[in-house]
Amino acid sequence: MKEIRTQVAIVGAGPAGLLLGQLLSREGIDTVVLEQRSREYVERRVRAGVIEFGVANLIEAAGAGERMRREGLIHHGIEFRFDAQSHRIPLSDLADGRSITVYGQQEVVKDLVELRIASGAALLFDTDAKSLGELTEDRPFVDATGPDGPLRVRCDFVAGCDGSFGVAHRALPAEVVRRHERTYPFSWLGILAEAPPATEELIYGRHDRGFALYSMRSPTLSRLYLGVGPHESLEQWSDDRIWEEISLRLATDEQPEVLRGPILDRGITAMRSIVIEPMRYGRLFLAGDAAHIVPPTGAKGMNLALADVRVLFGAMRAHFRGEGDALLEAYSATCLERVWRAEEFSNYMTQMLHPVADDGFENGVQLARLRQATRTRESSIVLARNYVDLNSL
Ligand code: FAD
Ligand code: PHB
Repeated sequence: MKEIRTQVAIVGAGPAGLLLGQLLSREGIDTVVLEQRSREYVERRVRAGVIEFGVANLIEAAGAGERMRREGLIHHGIEFRFDAQSHRIPLSDLADGRSITVYGQQEVVKDLVELRIASGAALLFDTDAKSLGELTEDRPFVDATGPDGPLRVRCDFVAGCDGSFGVAHRALPAEVVRRHERTYPFSWLGILAEAPPATEELIYGRHDRGFALYSMRSPTLSRLYLGVGPHESLEQWSDDRIWEEISLRLATDEQPEVLRGPILDRGITAMRSIVIEPMRYGRLFLAGDAAHIVPPTGAKGMNLALADVRVLFGAMRAHFRGEGDALLEAYSATCLERVWRAEEFSNYMTQMLHPVADDGFENGVQLARLRQATRTRESSIVLARNYVDLNSL
């Protein structure tokens, strides 16, 4: 079997793995990134779109923010729609002037892949990590299968950035790991459409018919979501049905119609929460979706992944500079505090915005929460700060 040696083996070229590679490379720390899929696949995967204030600064500080700053859309507010009325939350006014950047996750991925390839650092696509070994010894390894056959990557540390379906979190022995999980009784149907956004800000809609979210990617591309049942499939949703449902759920008396256009991408995502504790085992460190999943209602998944990376990078840098391992020892606890806050916020947003059929009590409570969030300044402030920059609370 071919064997290569590096300081940090990074499993997964999603936002977490790529940003970690970028930050470590800039410190002169050698890394190898292993990615199961092709470059085309990871660059085309349409997912998150909202980047928190502090996370946008992190991307910039890593030297990867040039296009994001040029093309990303800065938003100073979001809208909630319920009872056929609009309620704006002025995020920046309530969160010390901070704003969010709307910029597609796959654009972040493209920017990071380009930088890595230009730097010559190892990024192995079509390379499937199969198992991790000797994690509690000095020189752990990752075994993978790539286009040229089996491969062993020996390293000082393994960063498990391979998402919730990856191998890294499975390497934590059953006796040390605790897995906390909640599955919500609905999914999101998401579309990317070639249509100018009809409004300037994101709209979170709660209607008796279900949840709807109006987001965007550029002045010509809209990104929209509908809450659907957990067992529904794309075949049940024709283009016309999708557009009609979005229009119905987001209708108000004054607002213009949703603008329609060709649907370029569509998918259904289950809504769940997962937290894996601890996020470290020996020389393996989990970051991003490999360690935790949030339902997308709070727009926190990618932000949490990149916030883990910030902590992991600081801890590994201290180690390689000979400044000790206190930060590595604290990694899991430091991240989990933020992760649980994001779980709470995502759970709050999810429970407030997804009506439950034939449950008048639950629906009454949801509407009361929405009214409080939009009409009580103190509640709006907490929501705005959580949304714009969870780390700042
Ligand atoms: P991933 O992006 O999942 O990357 C993991 C990588 O590892 C993948 O490229 C995968 O191919 C690779 N991999 C897996 N197994 C292996 C293996 N065995 N060997 C090698 N490689 C492997 N988050 C937000 O912050 N804001 C939002 O607005 C938002 N909206 C979302 C909307 C939707 C519809 C969805 C589905 C998610 C959304 N998220 C959002 C969540 C966000 O997309 C994820 O949290 C984010 O992708 C996590 O990044 P990651 O790098 O940890 O994992
Ligand atoms: C998106 O633009 O994809 C998006 C925005 C807000 C969310 C989730 C996804 O809460």
